[in-house]
Amino acid sequence: MNYESVVATRRGGPEVLQIVENDLRAPAPGEARVKVLATSVGRTDVDYRYGRIAFAPKAPFVPGYEVLGRVDAVGAGVTQPAVGDRVAALTGHGGYAEYIYLRPEHLAPVPPGLDPAEAVTLILNYVTAHQMLHRTAKAKAGQRALVIGASGGVGTALLQLGKLAGLTLYGLASAAKHAAVKELGATPIDYRSPDFSAELRRLEPNGVDFVFNGFGSAYTRPSLKLIRRGGKLVEFVPTSGGLQLVVGLAQLALLNLWPNGKAVEFYGISALYQVDKRPFMTDLPILFRLLADGKIKPCIAARLPLLEAAKGNALLESGAVTGQVVLLAPELL
Ligand SMILES: NC(=O)c1ccc[n+]([C@@H]2O[C@H](COP(=O)([O-])OP(=O)(O)OC[C@H]3O[C@@H](n4cnc5c(N)ncnc54)[C@H](OP(=O)(O)O)[C@@H]3O)[C@@H](O)[C@H]2O)c1
Repeated sequence: MNYESVVATRRGGPEVLQIVENDLRAPAPGEARVKVLATSVGRTDVDYRYGRIAFAPKAPFVPGYEVLGRVDAVGAGVTQPAVGDRVAALTGHGGYAEYIYLRPEHLAPVPPGLDPAEAVTLILNYVTAHQMLHRTAKAKAGQRALVIGASGGVGTALLQLGKLAGLTLYGLASAAKHAAVKELGATPIDYRSPDFSAELRRLEPNGVDFVFNGFGSAYTRPSLKLIRRGGKLVEFVPTSGGLQLVVGLAQLALLNLWPNGKAVEFYGISALYQVDKRPFMTDLPILFRLLADGKIKPCIAARLPLLEAAKGNALLESGAVTGQVVLLAPELL
């Protein structure tokens, strides 16, 4: 039997994504074969495909940073999970496929009754947002935060979880997405306005406690000026590696030594996960619970068939998307 996956055949735009047939082999000892029910299209998939960021997999590769699926077969020695169980995994890449082979220690249980399209968005974007808010910033009710990239996958998750934590939120987004940002409980600010910093200063004369920068280094200095003493800038855009990584780390050290009472921290889910999976495995069930209780509602801009990943990537790259583009197994559409 065969299965299909969507492969980034070389560096480039969505047109380099091609459907490829693979042999549906039995899982090797210590491996589970997972039938992918949902994955999503994120900015990191796009940046990996263009080779813009460090640690991008070499082409050809199958993008797809997270999967939600059903265990379809297990190899010798695998006792948990069992065939038929619903599982979630942070894969980094490999998700744009009908099946994926994973070791059981990477598989988190998914509670029954959740919509796979909504649940899949929690694995990367909501865990990222939750960990930045609660592990990196340690945000408390009543504090103030600015989210840069507020209308994106991580940005909308930050707004929902930030609101739930009792924060006052400001979201930098293009004007067309201001209604969506407002609906999520934040005050929108247009980054294309001549001086978004002046606008935020007008609203918060004493500055904010946190800035979550999901767009890039152009915002580092303006963000630091907007943060009050004791506050923190959380940067979460991956670097392009090489010299930029070295310069970025040196800059980070300098900014933290500067005696202005402000801190800068870089957050990277994949580095943290590789060092220790436990925080991810602890936080994902918290988010599944919030979803089951109706306390969060992922913004899903499009639900597309799994093998139409190229279309999903083109849609995300068009800039017209608010929230997430989700790819689903055909039986879920
Ligand atoms: N560190 C981590 O662990 C981690 C985890 C997940 C993702 N990421 C990174 O986080 C970033 C966001 O990812 P995502 O999947 O949420 O992306 P996304 O859904 O594509 O969202 C990016 C947002 O940036 C906004 N934007 C575009 N130009 C802007 C500008 N000049 N100033 C401010 N905002 C601008 C876009 O909306 P507008 O229409 O409003 O411009 C868009 O909503 C990516 O760099 C991704 O690689 C990091």
